Amino acid sequence: MARVYFEEISKRFGGTHALRDLTLEVDDEEFFVLLGPSGCGKTTALRIAAGLEEPTAGAIYIGDRDVSFVPAKDRDLAMVFQNYALYPHMSVRDNVAFGLRMRGYARDEIERLVQEVTATLGIADLLDRKPGQLSGGQRQRVALGRAMVRRPQAFLMDEPLSNLDSKMRVQMRAELVRLQRDLAATFIYVTHDQVEAMTMGQRIAVLEGGKLQQVGLPQDVYDRPANRFVAEFIGSPAMNVLEGDLVVEGGHTAVRTPAGLVRVSDAASADVREQNITSLAVGIRPEHLTPEATESAAATSAAAASPAAIIEGQADLVESLGSEQHVTVVAGGWSVVANLPSSPRIERGATLRLAVAAEHVHLFDIESGERVGP
Ligand SMILES: Nc1ncnc2c1ncn2[C@@H]1O[C@H](COP(=O)(O)OP(=O)(O)O)[C@@H](O)[C@H]1O
Ligand SMILES: [Mg+2]
Repeated sequence: MARVYFEEISKRFGGTHALRDLTLEVDDEEFFVLLGPSGCGKTTALRIAAGLEEPTAGAIYIGDRDVSFVPAKDRDLAMVFQNYALYPHMSVRDNVAFGLRMRGYARDEIERLVQEVTATLGIADLLDRKPGQLSGGQRQRVALGRAMVRRPQAFLMDEPLSNLDSKMRVQMRAELVRLQRDLAATFIYVTHDQVEAMTMGQRIAVLEGGKLQQVGLPQDVYDRPANRFVAEFIGSPAMNVLEGDLVVEGGHTAVRTPAGLVRVSDAASADVREQNITSLAVGIRPEHLTPEATESAAATSAAAASPAAIIEGQADLVESLGSEQHVTVVAGGWSVVANLPSSPRIERGATLRLAVAAEHVHLFDIESGERVGP
C-alpha cells in the first residue's frame, strides 16, 4: 500500500477548468474522502490518479514514484465505480477472477484468491451467479472483490454506494470502513454525500469549482469551516447564514442581522478591526440554537449565561423526525432553522426565543467567503 500525492494538478476540458492547482497528500493506509457537489472535479481527480485522464499540468506520485507518465494498467491502482461495471455474461467467479487471468496467474492461485476475497465480502455462496441475479448490494461487493483480489497499491472509489437503497448504503458504509481497516489499504473515496464523508473519512477534502476548499479531520472541518461554502455544504439541516453591518453596541462589536444583533467575540473583533471589515456573514448551526433557558437552568447553560445573540421569532414549519424536530423560525422576515429536542413539541405559530453561545458563532467575509476570527 502507498501514499498518493497530487502535486499542483490542473485539468482543462476546452473552456472548462475541471481542476485548479490541486495539491493533496493522501497518507499510506488512510481512508481519505474527496467531497463536493456534482461537477466540482471529483471524478476528474480520481481518473487522473488512475491514469485514465492526463492532467493539463502537475504530477501524480504513488509512494515516492512519479507516475505521471505511467500508463493506467501499470499504476497498480484499483478503481471501483458507481455503476459497478461488471461483465453481465460472466459469473461472479469469473468477474472477480478476470484481472488475475489477464495477468496470467495460475489457475489454483486464482481459485484460492477468489475464495478468500469472496469469503471476506460474504459472497462466497454466489460464485456461480450472473450479475443479473444479484441485488445492488451484492453487485457492489462483486465489484469490490474484483478490485481486492489484485491487492493494489490503493483503491480509488467513485461514489460506489450511490446506486444502493438507503438502508443498504448505511450497511455498506460500515462494511467499507471495516474492510479498509482489515486490508490496511489506502482508500480515496469520492462522494457528494456529506454524511458519507463525515462517517467514513479519516480525513476529508472539500472541493468546489475544481478548487480545494479545505482538508482536515471531519470534526475539525465541521467545527471550523474555512469558508462559507464549506460551512453551508457540510451539516444537515444546513448552517444558517445571516449578513449584516458591523456596529458597536455597549462596548461590544456586533453584527446587525435582519434577525437581530449577533455579538462578535473579542478574538474575532481583533481580526475584524485588523482587516477593516465593515460587514460580515454570520453562521449558526441549527443545533446551536437552543431555547432561551429559564433562570434556574441558566447556571448550567453557557449559551444562556452569556448568549452572543437571542433570536426571537415565530415557528413556521415544524418537521418532526421522532428523535428531534427541525423548526423554521421567521425572525425579522428571515428564516432560521433550529434543531430542537422532540419534546416539548413546538406548534406552528408559537413564539420562540433562541440563544446561541459565542463559541458557536461563525463569521465569514462577505466578499471572499473566508472565515474571519478563530
Ligand atoms: N471528458 C470531459 N469533457 C468535457 N468536460 C468534462 C469532461 N469530464 C468532466 N468534464 C467537466 O469537468 C467538470 C468536473 O467534472 P467531474 O470531475 O466529472 O465532476 P464530479 O465528479 O465532481 O461531478 C464538470 O464541469 C464536467 O462537466
Ligand atoms: Mg463524478
